[in-house]
Amino acid sequence: MATSLVNPEKRHVSIQVKNISKRFKTRKGITEALTDISVDVKEGEFFCIVGPSGCGKTTLLRILAGLEEQTDGEVILSWQDRQRPLSTMVFQEQSAYPWLTVEQNVEYGLRLRKVPKSIRRQVTRDWIEMVGLQGFEHHYPGQLSGGMKQRVAIARAFANDPEILLMDEPFVNLDEQTKIIMQQELIHLWEANRKTVVFITHSIDEAIMMGDRIMMLTAHPGRVKRLFDIDLPRPRNIAEIRANPHFAELFTDIWALLKSEVELARRQDAN
Ligand SMILES: Nc1ncnc2c1ncn2[C@@H]1O[C@H](COP(=O)(O)OP(=O)(O)O)[C@@H](O)[C@H]1O
Ligand SMILES: [Mg+2]
Repeated sequence: MATSLVNPEKRHVSIQVKNISKRFKTRKGITEALTDISVDVKEGEFFCIVGPSGCGKTTLLRILAGLEEQTDGEVILSWQDRQRPLSTMVFQEQSAYPWLTVEQNVEYGLRLRKVPKSIRRQVTRDWIEMVGLQGFEHHYPGQLSGGMKQRVAIARAFANDPEILLMDEPFVNLDEQTKIIMQQELIHLWEANRKTVVFITHSIDEAIMMGDRIMMLTAHPGRVKRLFDIDLPRPRNIAEIRANPHFAELFTDIWALLKSEVELARRQDAN
């Protein structure tokens, strides 16, 4: 049950998930969302989680973020630099605060941590530039497109410089072209920063393009079905990766396993 935060002996491991289960009490009874999940995520790893809808991906991420408590098991997060926040979450949508400007959004975490204004301004300016939002500093999210809003959320998360970045299907609501651009940008940002990232997606394509490893969960309740190493070269370019024959092999292998879980999830939905 305990969630400890420091684990100095295991510097190479950023997140240890040990036998996590989660049951929700609802009016209809008890829903088992996750069953006995165990995995280690290494420091600086881009770790993707895929699985059919309703399998518990968001629940697992919320447990890692400390927003939800597991019913059984233990999560150990390595927090090496107490000056930095432990984790920051990027959600599917509405991750940018609508009442703050782009600039205020990006500097939000730094302001909370009382980072001196001159540093805050510099870091904020750098990240706004890195996600291509110069000129929009004083705009509110309501004045921006969906892709730009997600850029604000990503800039805010990176500017906050957490030990661990948790992303829950951050591009799911974007149109196809914007999504590809954002995926490529995130790959570049991550390759330049090498932060520990846990990235949820239901897209195999996206998981292979972005990830170092993929954990597949079974249909509800989520268990670990398989872990895949994505041994594609970096730096990655989306167009080149998609054309790589190994990409097609990985896709075929992963889909072969995921297909039965998706079918199972669809049968569960129908009942
Ligand atoms: N707060 C909650 N109360 C009750 N059941 C929940 C709650 N959150 C999630 N669930 C249930 O847990 C399961 C996993 O949900 P979720 O983690 O959102 O899945 P995913 O993100 O993979 O689509 C689903 O059956 C969902 O209905
Ligand atoms: Mg979800």
